[in-house]
Amino acid sequence: MGSVRLVALKGRLAASFFNGSLRGFQRNPTLSIRCLSSNMSPPSKAVVYEQQGPPDQVIRVIDLPPVEIRESDVCVKMLAAPINPSDINRIEGVYPVRPPVPAIGGYEGVGEVQSLGSAVRGLSPGDWVIPSPLSSGTWQTYVVKEESAWHKVSTDIPAEYAATVTVNPLTALRMLEDFNKLNSGDAIVQNGATSIVGQCIIQLARIQGIHSINIIRDRVGSEEVKERLKKLGADEVYTESQLEIKNVKSLLGGLPEPALGFNCVGGNSATLVLKFLRQGGTMVTYGGMAKKPVTVSTSSFIFKDLSLRGFWLQKWMSSERAKDSRPMIDYLLDLVRRGELKYEMELVPFEDFHVALDKALGKLGSHPKQVLTF
Ligand SMILES: NC(=O)c1ccc[n+]([C@@H]2O[C@H](COP(=O)([O-])OP(=O)(O)OC[C@H]3O[C@@H](n4cnc5c(N)ncnc54)[C@H](OP(=O)(O)O)[C@@H]3O)[C@@H](O)[C@H]2O)c1
Repeated sequence: MGSVRLVALKGRLAASFFNGSLRGFQRNPTLSIRCLSSNMSPPSKAVVYEQQGPPDQVIRVIDLPPVEIRESDVCVKMLAAPINPSDINRIEGVYPVRPPVPAIGGYEGVGEVQSLGSAVRGLSPGDWVIPSPLSSGTWQTYVVKEESAWHKVSTDIPAEYAATVTVNPLTALRMLEDFNKLNSGDAIVQNGATSIVGQCIIQLARIQGIHSINIIRDRVGSEEVKERLKKLGADEVYTESQLEIKNVKSLLGGLPEPALGFNCVGGNSATLVLKFLRQGGTMVTYGGMAKKPVTVSTSSFIFKDLSLRGFWLQKWMSSERAKDSRPMIDYLLDLVRRGELKYEMELVPFEDFHVALDKALGKLGSHPKQVLTF
């Protein structure tokens, strides 16, 4: 009797952290207790926040009890999940769409199928799957979701790429294809070129024969960073201070003036992107890393007729085109397999979550994308 009461108590705790993945206890605690002997997930460790606020203050790592695996459910043992800037923004409460609190962090990742409900036909234990469409709650050791929520990916690529393929590479792919029509030989310009989106833009553009002009922050070791981006296919890489000249176009050399620019940063860095654009060009803003507004000169509108657009993957995901997202993800992972798409990541054991968080928050200087491994 004592042990049943303990499980029921844990059930209530799980219910309070319900976000779609740990749901058995919330739906029917009594039933869940009865099912303990049948199809239950293992207990899970999860990164949770009970209120929005500064991530390093509101986040806790806690143990969650097993949950029921219903007949169409798949229980997945997570292998890897990144800390993306938007994850931070959701926890801070500044992202326009965020899960209700209390919530489990993380929005993408990859895991291995551990066990299945009796009606699951398309997946087997050992398969690798990613949540598709994206959904919150990937920063935990076991996730239970319906079969339809998972997309099977092949196991012949490093797990960290499967874990990170959706939020950033898919954004890069869509932004290159969904705005101005680009042809081989054209050029694009972007800031935030060291971001994963930026690194993907360089490589996906190159595959299509499109040149890239890249802007990075000033930093110690910028020459090495430039070399790394050039190895990925960047044509030109400039620090922001190198572009404090009257005519940035004198730096284009033989490259055509870009018709399309991507803004990851805002502030002065966005102004530099605009300066490179040709008459009638478009700048697409997708990130605001500097937390500063985009300022556009009057003459940019009158004499250059520039257009300002925005891209948000979450909105794209709710459009008609999202039905094609799984083949697009497969295409991107195929590029990874062939060595044509790569980007820098730092793998961090889940136990060291708080170290990874500090790095992702920029508290310890500039670091590659933090990817938790389980
Ligand atoms: N709109 C969308 O649908 C969408 C989709 C995906 C990503 N995003 C956004 O795209 C941006 C990049 O995401 P990511 O995951 O690719 O990034 P990431 O790999 O985590 O890299 C962060 C990038 O931001 C730069 N950065 C950090 N703090 C900065 C600051 N104060 N000023 C200027 N630059 C700063 C870093 O430059 P250093 O290398 O110099 O540190 C690095 O290039 C984020 O804003 C993210 O929210 C938007």
